[in-house]
Amino acid sequence: MIAAAVCPGTFDPITKGHIDVVDRALTLFDRVIVAVHVSPDKKPLFSVEERVTLAVEALNGRDGVQVTQFDGLLVTFAREHGAHVVIKGLRAVSDFEREFQMAQLGHLLDEGVETLFMMASTEYQFLSSSAVKEIARYGGDVSGLVPVNVDRALKGRLWPREGGG
Ligand code: PNS
Repeated sequence: MIAAAVCPGTFDPITKGHIDVVDRALTLFDRVIVAVHVSPDKKPLFSVEERVTLAVEALNGRDGVQVTQFDGLLVTFAREHGAHVVIKGLRAVSDFEREFQMAQLGHLLDEGVETLFMMASTEYQFLSSSAVKEIARYGGDVSGLVPVNVDRALKGRLWPREGGG
């Protein structure tokens, strides 16, 4: 049997913290499905198609990784894709309550899907897509926090007149 795991998120945009979790998930699972939720209520900076493209480019060259968008419930998506495991990265303690609630609710909806938490690596403990967007919006340098294509896409979206993108 090929063991598959889902790494879900909004990925608006994908960061080096996300990529670190995917790379570590690949050491445990044969197949890792990066599932990009449409999340219109979060008013993402990038469309779901753009977020998928940025993730595909950023994860290029890794065997066993598939990037796909999804709408609806995570447990349904996991089932439909033959994955019994959901992997979430955990950063500071502040993540815990929300992630704990989501994992419990997910288990209530489908007890065949398990959520595994992976502690974020030390250098990415305080990294989030929201922080990246805020820094980039005010002209800060995020090149150490995101892959090159995302850095370029942020500049293009937030600073179009400066010639970004
Ligand atoms: O990047 P995020 O904000 O941590 O991603 C959250 C996401 C998209 C993984 C989460 O909101 C999700 O799984 N949404 C799909 C709907 C769902 O299943 N909600 C959880 C109820 S148990």
